[in-house]
Amino acid sequence: MTEADAQTEIGPEPPEMIRIYDTTLRDGEQAPGCTMTFEEKLEVARQLARLNVDIIEAGFPVASPGDWAAVHHIAREIGTADGPTISALAHANVDAIDRAATAIQPAAKKRIHVFISTSDIHIEHQLRSTREAVLEKARTMVRYAKSRCEDIEFSPMDATRSDAAYMHRVLAAAIEEGATTLNIPDTVGYATPEEYAAVINGIRRNVPGADRVIISSHCHDDLGMAVANSLAGVRAGVRQIEVTVNGIGERAGNASLEEVVMALHTRAQFFGQSTRINTQELARSSRLVSTIIGVPLPPNKAIVGANAFAHESGIHQDGVLKNRLTYEIMSAETVGLHGNALVLGKHSGRHALRNHIEQLGYQLSDDDFQQVFIRFKELCDRKKSVDDRDIEAVISDETQRIPEIYRLEHVQVTCGTGVTPVATVRVLCPDGEARTDTDYGTGPVDAVYRAINRVVQRPTELTEFAINAITEGLDAVAEVTVRLREQSPVESDAPESRAPQVYSGYGVNTDTIVAAAEAYVGALNKLAASRQERLKVEAAAYAAGYEPPLPVGR
Ligand code: KIV
Ligand code: ZN
Repeated sequence: MTEADAQTEIGPEPPEMIRIYDTTLRDGEQAPGCTMTFEEKLEVARQLARLNVDIIEAGFPVASPGDWAAVHHIAREIGTADGPTISALAHANVDAIDRAATAIQPAAKKRIHVFISTSDIHIEHQLRSTREAVLEKARTMVRYAKSRCEDIEFSPMDATRSDAAYMHRVLAAAIEEGATTLNIPDTVGYATPEEYAAVINGIRRNVPGADRVIISSHCHDDLGMAVANSLAGVRAGVRQIEVTVNGIGERAGNASLEEVVMALHTRAQFFGQSTRINTQELARSSRLVSTIIGVPLPPNKAIVGANAFAHESGIHQDGVLKNRLTYEIMSAETVGLHGNALVLGKHSGRHALRNHIEQLGYQLSDDDFQQVFIRFKELCDRKKSVDDRDIEAVISDETQRIPEIYRLEHVQVTCGTGVTPVATVRVLCPDGEARTDTDYGTGPVDAVYRAINRVVQRPTELTEFAINAITEGLDAVAEVTVRLREQSPVESDAPESRAPQVYSGYGVNTDTIVAAAEAYVGALNKLAASRQERLKVEAAAYAAGYEPPLPVGR
């Protein structure tokens, strides 16, 4: 059955709506190396609103004033009456619930998500508590959260490894105290689809009041079954699915938003459900998150990978040319992949480019558009044909919200057989002085990075370097993604306990070395800006009503 068939075969009854609860900014962002700046979180939240998710879990406000400020800002800007519900996570603790409540306060539709572990292994070894004490805490904390917010989600953490009868008692207590959504986490990604469906069925059958609340899935991908488990949950009665863009999240990640949504969309008749997601925004959401966290998508990633709609073998190509439905169950356009639609050339003007960009779904500020236009003209001089993929890469590059603390002004490399690669760079530094330096390396990129390091003097370790050709052909534009780990956070930068952070950078250029240099300087800029940003965001949090935690013992 194809996408087209599935759509036409749906019966006259409107399908039930599955709520899409996006936790990219919470479960996704808390994964190692996926940290986002305040501005980046806002960019992602704006894109999630365009995607039309039902609920955005915007963060864990008790974690830091910065997290609180981001949730508060998202609640104010994105949580409009016709926008998504804004949710904040809180563990079963009064202070955490208070901070969640104040952070989401400006949103028109708001939710507090309270969680506590219910598996014996967590209760004994992590919480060092007892089943009865956890049951009581779940009850009192859901009651307290309900006094602060009407819409309450409750999660029994590690649900799939919890004793079912005990977990049912905890869930029943949560419903009695006013929980409106019960979220069932497969926290460690241990369940199989049959087992996960059985857990949901068990809850629906045995928990008094379960028919009055929404049951939600939250599946991790440790065994590669997060999407399958979420969909098995739907078959068993789940009506909210928790997901992240590109499946980012703790360890192997969460169920991927794009895969869950397109499975429900493409197999609508099988599942009998639909979502409100604007599927044409899927590719753009995926690209945005991948660029921000500096993790390129594997080419074979379902739905949004570069090869997801590519037909390589002769037999497949022949079939697709005769009838697309022979080998395609959904179309690239449905997920917002514009492919290589031929666009404008070097004679195209500002107006034509702006129109075209708007047709692709981007609303750029005048400043961003001006930069994209300049880059477009440069590309037209260097490439035979510029297509939508090039333009989207340039937009991603130009709309990164990274403060330009260091600006790469010049890069030059000598390399080749029989010579040691040597690079010279000139970088405009924050004190207004342009500094030039030179270094050797094992290859041209290594030489450039060493030369930049000599100027910037911030010890880092390169943890990832990925290069990708955006289009076919020798004149293709290269996109480079790097990730750096600060080697030892400068003492004054952060509390002692702060683990070294990972910063990503992204560069796009027809010259691979220039793209690599720009990506590297971008990551260094994020690193340099992190302290300034932390202080600025903390000041904004206090100005917006954030209160410091009470001293321990009070
Ligand atoms: O995986 C998990 O258990 C969670 C909870 C906080 C819902 O992320
Ligand atoms: Zn999780």
